[in-house]
Formats: sequence, structure tokens, C-alpha cells
Amino acid sequence: MPDAEFSAYLKSSAQRVDRALDGFLPKEKVAPSTIHQAMRYAVFAGGKRLRPILCLAAAEACGGEDELALPAACAVEVLHTYSLVHDDLPCMDDDDLRRGRPTCHKVYGEGMAVLCGDALLTEAFLMLTQSKPTPRYPIGVLVQELALTSGSRHLIGGQVMDLEGEGKSLTKAQLVKIHRAKTAALLTTSLRLGAMAVNATPAKLEALTTFGECLGLAFQIIDDILDVTQSTEVLGKTAGKDVDVAKATYPAIVGLEKSRKEAATLTKKAMAALEVFGKKAQRLHQIADYLLVREY
Ligand code: IPE
Ligand code: IPE
Ligand code: MG
Ligand code: MG
Ligand code: MG
Repeated sequence: MPDAEFSAYLKSSAQRVDRALDGFLPKEKVAPSTIHQAMRYAVFAGGKRLRPILCLAAAEACGGEDELALPAACAVEVLHTYSLVHDDLPCMDDDDLRRGRPTCHKVYGEGMAVLCGDALLTEAFLMLTQSKPTPRYPIGVLVQELALTSGSRHLIGGQVMDLEGEGKSLTKAQLVKIHRAKTAALLTTSLRLGAMAVNATPAKLEALTTFGECLGLAFQIIDDILDVTQSTEVLGKTAGKDVDVAKATYPAIVGLEKSRKEAATLTKKAMAALEVFGKKAQRLHQIADYLLVREY
């Protein structure tokens, strides 16, 4: 488990992100109130805030002021939350529990949950445009980065393959493709946007891309493992769902032990990419270590 200093860092970073999110998101009383309540219900439900924390830590690794990465950090968290709201819908993974609470559609109904996701997706881009442009990366480049990652070539494409893969026996190569698209792409973009917000050199952006691609795949492998090994209570989402619907997952295809080994190997590979940053990448190292031993 993470040491006390690192745990405090995770906590204070998450709180910083939450304060910024509170400032960006429309207040509950803004009309029409129901949708703003639903958006805040989904966002402020106690997620790990991994993507925004990676975004801030990437800015720090690049030697920049991480405050500059806050709009991008909020954007990736809100985009991620939208993907969860839609992922949980009855027509998708049909989940009742998320982040330790009833899912958005259970509380607000399916129609409102669809709209809540739509609104969060849109808000994400609005937040991103609050970033300060830098000499290397005008706002249009940041918007392009997030749009490409969230669209049908990556995140949505991954969700499509995930849905179409249910009940089928996929090859490992097909599964890797799904995991890269549905999860690793947004993790990588979170890091890249943090770097762009502080005008990182192309070499540093490239190094973070390699880090993110390996870490992101490891992250989804661990998510698959936890679905099998962890309790619903600790996960805050229904355990054992993947087996129930015969999802293509790492444990299903290569077994638990080999899944664990691959996640560890990928994490090592991710860390190797951080060499160019020296000591400035300490937080990224710690985050990568923590993701491997996380319990939810
Ligand atoms: C869950 O992501 C969905 C995946 C892509 C595996 P997280 O495990 O980061 O969920 P929260 O944000 O902490 O709830
Ligand atoms: C979710 O993957 C990926 C996205 C939402 C893009 P999962 O379906 O495995 O996530 P959980 O397990 O429901 O959090
Ligand atoms: Mg899913
Ligand atoms: Mg799901
Ligand atoms: Mg899962």
C-alpha cells in the first residue's frame, strides 16, 4: 500500500481537482436543475481521480507549473465520468452500482443518464478551452488531442469492440486492441494534455506517450483482475460482472496469474520511459507503483 506521504499527495491532488471541478460545472440550481444535479451526482461520487492526477503529475515532470494543467485535468475527469455513466446503462454493461453509489440511471432514469453523459462530454471540451495556449500547443491542438482520443478511433471504438466481443472467444491480440482503445488512450491523453499545458518538448511528450500506453494497458488488466478477485464493497461497483456476461477480459483469456505478471511487466516498461525526466518524474513512478497494488 502507498506510504503516508504519497497517500496525502493523492488526497490533496484529488481535492484540488474537486475544487476546480466545482468551479467549472454548472451549479445544481441552474436550470434545468435535474441535469445539473445528475452531472454533479456522477462527478462527485468519489472516483480515484487518476486521470487528472496523471495530468498534473505530467506537467510537473515536464518542469512546468501544474496549476496550468488544471483545466485539462478537469476535462479528462469529466470525459471519463461521462464514459462511465454511459458504460453503466442497461443497453451497455447494465450496472447498478458505481463509485459506491447507485448508478446515474438508477437515480435519475435512463433518459436523464444519457443526457447527463452527453452534457459531461460537452462540458469536458468547454473546460479544456479554459487552458492557456502555449507557444508549441495552441488550444486547437489540445481540443484535437481529446477529440481524437474520445471518438470512434479510440475510446468509443474500444467500447464498440468490447460490446461486440461479449460472449465471443477473442484472441489476446484482439483484447489488447480493445483495452488500448477503451482505456489506455484516455490515460495517455491525460498525460499528454498535462505536458502540452506547460509547453513540453516533443521528446518529453513522446516519452509520456510511451509511459501512458504501457500504464494504460496495465491499468485495464488490473481492472479486469479486480472484477474477479475483489468484493463489490471495496470496488464500489458490482464484482464478478465480467464473468456473468462473458466479457472478453485478461483473466478470462490468459488466466489470473499471467494477467498479474503482464501488468507488472508493462508497469516496468512504462517506468523505463520516464528516464528522460530524472527526479521530476517521482510522482509518476509512485502512481505507477500504486496502480499495480490498488485494491479498487
Ligand atoms: C474505471 O476507471 C473504468 C476503466 C476504464 C477501467 P477507474 O477505476 O479510474 O474509475 P474511478 O474514476 O476511480 O471511479
Ligand atoms: C470501461 O471499462 C471503459 C470505459 C468506460 C471507457 P469497464 O466496463 O471494464 O469499466 P468498469 O469495470 O465498468 O468500471
Ligand atoms: Mg464496459
Ligand atoms: Mg463496465
Ligand atoms: Mg471493468
